[in-house]
Amino acid sequence: MSFITLHEMGPRDGLQNEPAVIDLADKVALIDLLGTSGLRDIEVGSFVSPKWVPQMADTADVMRAIKLVAGVRYAVLVPNMRGWDSFTPFAKGPFEIAVFVSASEGFSQANLNCSVAESIARLRPVVDAATAAGVGVRGYVSCVTDCPFDGPVAPEAVAAAVANLRALAPMQVSLGDTIGKGSPDRVALMLDAVLDDVPALDLAGHFHDTGGQALDNISVSIDRGLRHFDSAVGGLGGCPYAPGAPGNVATEAVIDHVERLGFETGIDRDVIAKAAAIAQRMRG
Ligand code: HMG
Ligand code: MG
Repeated sequence: MSFITLHEMGPRDGLQNEPAVIDLADKVALIDLLGTSGLRDIEVGSFVSPKWVPQMADTADVMRAIKLVAGVRYAVLVPNMRGWDSFTPFAKGPFEIAVFVSASEGFSQANLNCSVAESIARLRPVVDAATAAGVGVRGYVSCVTDCPFDGPVAPEAVAAAVANLRALAPMQVSLGDTIGKGSPDRVALMLDAVLDDVPALDLAGHFHDTGGQALDNISVSIDRGLRHFDSAVGGLGGCPYAPGAPGNVATEAVIDHVERLGFETGIDRDVIAKAAAIAQRMRG
């Protein structure tokens, strides 16, 4: 049977958007439970400015406190060398970094306070340092169909952003429909542009479900050969700099959807249901 890999976003993309303070112990309990579910990739935090994203300020404490499960990779977002410096104590563990750029200028300014070109330049030393340290790197491109500030995004701009990230080092790139506005037709056009240069297995789909089309967008991506998808337990999520991005597609919904399509995920649905209940209680 064919396999689909899910990358769990709840503890990072989910919780970063919650207005209420969430206790370290609660975050750790959620991640520890997710670690027993069969998930192999869990994003647990970000080394970004605590003024911009206060909810992620305890990322180092989270990384120190979680029970590391053999075979699970734990990822954190790193936007610049300052973030890399915070990551270095963890460079020998099962931790990876994720770097992120936007396909649109408006979101780049709002999310990273710099242009798309500047964001790539900031990431070059980060990716070089990670490569030298043997740390895995994953990439994200945001706003792959629509930007909350600039409107519709051209597929060519997405393909260029993916190429610019992969010029830094070989990496899987996750394609983010940050505000969940993409329709299957437009996601397909975007994917066709990216797939001209990049193998489908080096890509992931990261769909927010604002428009209720995330599962259809996953289907279109599967049709084009993608086998990696990002999701968040309980549909946690959003992005503080993307107005109108309330939720990542729920992990439990993606598991059910891809299993109906005949794929295996290796994830225990009962454990995910328990984690989703905890996630729902964390929601403000
Ligand atoms: P900046 O203000 O342009 O940077 O922020 P700066 O270099 O001028 O620094 C300003 C202050 O931030 C300084 O502190 C720095 O020390 C500090 P001050 O002197 O004012 O006290 N600083 C940092 N502190 C901790 N860690 C750091 C760091 N860097 C600077 N790494 C910066 C630039 C990138 C830091 C800022 O714009 C930022 O933190 N942005 C937040 C980005 C973010 O986390 N967004 C959400 C995640 S992305 C996402 O959700 C999309 C995704 O899910 C895919 C999708 O859905 O599309 C991945
Ligand atoms: Mg996201």
